Amino acid sequence: RLRPLSDSFGRSVTYLRLSLTDRCDLRCTYCMAENMVFMPKRNLLSIAELARLSDVFIRRGVRKLRLTGGEPLVRKGVMDLIAELSRHLETGALEELTLTTNGTQLARYADDLAKYGVRRVNVSLDTLDPAHYRKITRRGDLEKVLNGLDAAQTAGLKVKLNAIASRGAFESELDSLIHFAHGRSMDLTLIEEMPMGATGQNRAETFLPLDELRAGLARRWTLAPLAHATGGPARYLSVAETGGRLGFISPMSCNFCALCNRVRLSAAGRLFTCMGQEGSVDLRPALEQDEDVLDALLRRAVSAKPQGHDFGAHNISHLSIRRFMSALGG
Ligand code: GTP
Ligand code: 5AD
Ligand code: SF4
Repeated sequence: RLRPLSDSFGRSVTYLRLSLTDRCDLRCTYCMAENMVFMPKRNLLSIAELARLSDVFIRRGVRKLRLTGGEPLVRKGVMDLIAELSRHLETGALEELTLTTNGTQLARYADDLAKYGVRRVNVSLDTLDPAHYRKITRRGDLEKVLNGLDAAQTAGLKVKLNAIASRGAFESELDSLIHFAHGRSMDLTLIEEMPMGATGQNRAETFLPLDELRAGLARRWTLAPLAHATGGPARYLSVAETGGRLGFISPMSCNFCALCNRVRLSAAGRLFTCMGQEGSVDLRPALEQDEDVLDALLRRAVSAKPQGHDFGAHNISHLSIRRFMSALGG
């Protein structure tokens, strides 16, 4: 084991989010534009390179690895990578290997994920209404995701649902989403929308601060703070009526950067030490060199990790970050 990675604010990096592709089979309106231009596939890190880089991070103290996209399960070879990574679970070097997925491919992959030691998955789902789901995702089929959730739970995976809060239909549908999630023993996390990428939607029209949403919920549900922690930015409340957990991720109204423990690697091999900043460092050239070179590059990048993001400094219509959310998978 090598010296852990830490930044100039005394934060240790123990969590790597690895984007496997910028592509996705959906086009969620808060995430992507209708007509996306994706990076050429030749720019992607190979499965072997992804495995090698993961290894480099794990030997430097990364304990939790989350695969993201775009949609990680549309990446060719994803199961070969997961099989590779699962060896780190067996040795105990890695505590958690997990995924954030839109769920459309889960029916196909759930058994294999469980077999390779994945214990939980986060699935993006904002509504249970098929027509509304189609509208948000522009091309999704709700039924596929519901089948995927069933498959995941049958395979023994824990599921957390992620929902982006927005003004309008979401507010009236939220109670049924809570009933659905908690009735199936899933956590549900509500997320404040961040101004990343020009998606063709006016975010100011739909932005819903979570403290406002929570105040509304508190009139109908009995909510109490919980100490539950997953190593992510969500703050959890218990819901007495369901016995379930409700997470709140509020980057815009409540900055959680002081506790940040993570870095992100894009599918092309760029290291982003903060999601809410443009800066990144290309690790790929160092892959061909001695590990010393890669080590030095990595440590320099991590030590320059910004103190935090700038979201909210202006307002939700101010596009803080031009890159799309899908480029790094949140
Ligand atoms: P667990 O707590 O392990 O379940 O994961 P998580 O909630 O951190 O991961 P997930 O991929 O489900 O993240 C949900 C959303 O939280 C992401 O899509 C982002 O919108 C947001 N998020 C996660 N990490 C960060 C972060 O470091 N900064 C900001 N601003 N938002 C984040
Ligand atoms: N703001 C916050 N979260 C977003 N996601 C996609 N776009 C945004 C955005 N603009 C979330 C998705 C998914 C995760 C990968 O990122 O809902 O849960
Ligand atoms: Fe795909 Fe997730 Fe972005 Fe939706 S939010 S388009 S599912 S990457």
